[in-house]
Amino acid sequence: MEQTFIMIKPDGVQRGLVGEIISRFEKKGFSLKALKFVNVDRPFAEKHYADLSAKPFFNGLVEYIVSGPVVAMVWEGKGVVATGRKLIGATNPLASEPGTIRGDFAIDIGRNVIHGSDAVDSATKEIALWFPEGVVHWQSSLHSWIYE
Ligand code: TYD
Repeated sequence: MEQTFIMIKPDGVQRGLVGEIISRFEKKGFSLKALKFVNVDRPFAEKHYADLSAKPFFNGLVEYIVSGPVVAMVWEGKGVVATGRKLIGATNPLASEPGTIRGDFAIDIGRNVIHGSDAVDSATKEIALWFPEGVVHWQSSLHSWIYE
């Protein structure tokens, strides 16, 4: 089953949105496979955002990600990468639909509360980077009530 990497960024943690965000993924029917509360250092944040290293906002983005603890998670389910992105909303919160996490809880692009992998291959890479120890293998007893 497909997996994605989701991170609640430092602003989401500081603003007390951890429970709300986890709840939205849970209520959708996705399964939590890994979760940790961590401070990342600069080299790690630069590695996570390596694809954006040439962008003018890269330095500010890295500063933001290292500014406080983050919640790193792996969520699993059918289509979880694309649907996770839908739950999160557009990158710029002002363009995110109400009902999405960024649409409901954020204003500035540089304080957009949450990260979610943008494709299955980047999810695989990000899960390996953040969870080299691996994830928990389990299946919810509600599985047959969520999937036909
Ligand atoms: P990106 O991977 O383009 O977006 P997403 O997080 O939706 O996959 O960019 C990564 C993060 O970089 C984004 O969440 C917020 C930040 N960012 C800026 O600060 N300014 C910008 O102009 C852009 C495009 C992104």
